[in-house]
Amino acid sequence: MLQSPTKNVVRLILIGFGSVHQHFARILLDKAPLLRRRYARDLLVVGVGDSGGAVYQTEGLDLATLLAHKQAGNSVCTLPHGVAMADALSLARSGDYDLLLEASPVNLNDGEPALGCVRSALARGRSAVLANKAPLVLDYEALHDLAQRNQAKLAFSATVCGGLPVVNVGERDLVGATIHKIEGIFNSTTNYILSRMATGEDYESALAEAQRRGLAETDPSLDVDGWDTANKLVIIANAVLGASTTLADVTVEGISGVGSKQLAGAKANGRRIKLVATAEQQGERYRFAVRPRQVPADSFLGGVVDWQMGIVFHTDIYEEISMKVDERDPTATAAAMLRDVITLTR
Ligand SMILES: NC(=O)c1ccc[n+]([C@@H]2O[C@H](COP(=O)([O-])OP(=O)(O)OC[C@H]3O[C@@H](n4cnc5c(N)ncnc54)[C@H](OP(=O)(O)O)[C@@H]3O)[C@@H](O)[C@H]2O)c1
Repeated sequence: MLQSPTKNVVRLILIGFGSVHQHFARILLDKAPLLRRRYARDLLVVGVGDSGGAVYQTEGLDLATLLAHKQAGNSVCTLPHGVAMADALSLARSGDYDLLLEASPVNLNDGEPALGCVRSALARGRSAVLANKAPLVLDYEALHDLAQRNQAKLAFSATVCGGLPVVNVGERDLVGATIHKIEGIFNSTTNYILSRMATGEDYESALAEAQRRGLAETDPSLDVDGWDTANKLVIIANAVLGASTTLADVTVEGISGVGSKQLAGAKANGRRIKLVATAEQQGERYRFAVRPRQVPADSFLGGVVDWQMGIVFHTDIYEEISMKVDERDPTATAAAMLRDVITLTR
């Protein structure tokens, strides 16, 4: 059955239809009545793109059919209903929609296909919601300028720690604060690997479990080499600290040098090894680093285990604020995209 538009209909296009956007589609199927009742919104997916091409249908695509089609191993562009398009960029350029949602793989070389799609949406005055960090890491200021010039908006709360509202709290709730330091565990794949290796499990099986759950990056070297964590730190630096920052400003070391011997040694001393991101104020600037660090097992960061991610804001007037999330699959990331969609259309 097709979704039925109302006057509060918001037309979405989804770039990428992997783990995150499939969870997003399932949330929409489940929550449509609640979204209508509580927020007076009907979210209508009118277009979807994957690596094989794209499909567009003005009246809205049937999400259950779309999910079944994709799970059967097909590209969205062969869906029997709708107009097939060559690629996601064609959809972003020529589809009629209100919001573009981006969840294609991270590409730190040129940001594509995400960067082109997001630029295209913003240039047409359409707002964008991102789970993909690459466009922000590569082009944060220019994308915000483009959005502003075209009365569009950019939201990206899903890019940092999935459902944990790190960007929201940092941007909105720390009014007037000077943030002396941020410390965080931002990557659940590496946190799980380190937690499992500390109990004797091997690296490969822990990584395989993260991939099975859809939590690892499409290219898992981004997780284990620390780049996913560094990307999140760059986004926080720009959005929360107001520090014009790129990856080149971050010292990055992944977890490949951490062996079971070191993990056991740390454990014997009441400590745990974590991949920690740090932004530390030094005068007017910040120093940024991502590296494996020993932390006391009974500290806040020491208690961020397995699939959890967490952050500590060290501030002046709000003192110290810590929060963590336990994310066992990409549902909460997809929910964060939903949160941004509703916020942008209020
Ligand atoms: N998974 C998480 O828990 C999580 C959490 C936060 C943020 N994110 C971010 O969300 C994004 C998506 O993650 P994911 O786990 O959903 O990845 P995924 O399962 O690998 O899905 C990626 C999707 O992008 C599509 N794609 C690949 N190349 C494309 C192209 N050139 N044009 C259009 N679509 C293309 C893929 O197409 P095919 O289906 O044809 O392969 C697939 O549908 C990533 O940027 C990731 O960093 C993920």
